[in-house]
Amino acid sequence: MTQHGWDVTAIDFVPRAIAKAKAKAAAAKASPRLILGDVTRLEELGVGDGYSLVFDLGCLHAIPQPRRDAYVEGVNKATVRGADFLIWAFHTKLNLVTNARLTQEEVEERFGPAWDIVRAWAGEQPDRFPARWYHLKRR
Ligand SMILES: C[S@@+](CC[C@H](N)C(=O)[O-])C[C@H]1O[C@@H](n2cnc3c(N)ncnc32)[C@H](O)[C@@H]1O
Repeated sequence: MTQHGWDVTAIDFVPRAIAKAKAKAAAAKASPRLILGDVTRLEELGVGDGYSLVFDLGCLHAIPQPRRDAYVEGVNKATVRGADFLIWAFHTKLNLVTNARLTQEEVEERFGPAWDIVRAWAGEQPDRFPARWYHLKRR
């Protein structure tokens, strides 16, 4: 996305993920802002505001329930009116190892006040991953 002119900030709280992203960015001669930190503490991480796109690939569904409000609050503060938000999340638990789960009802409840759900659809390979995509638009 950086190569396509986007001003990108990417976050993960696992050092290995950020290290891999740094290596990939360097190989691509791209320079996104990579932050090692917890997405439920966006303000403390100093991500700032004015974002027009948020992409969450399998992160929100893994955040413990008591921290999800803080995540949504942080994203709401960081985004502008008309911003797009793409989420990919398991709608049911995949197996005994992961507790990751985010139902469409929860998406509607959590994001309803500040976001319109433009579209929700089944993810690819539904026999492997019980996932759904959500496209939200900031009001
Ligand atoms: C399915 S992986 C996606 C990895 C990569 N960002 C991608 O798009 O291919 C989900 C990532 O979310 C990260 N994650 C989960 N909870 C997080 C949190 N509270 N703060 C930051 N990262 C988190 C995990 O460490 C994991 O790397």
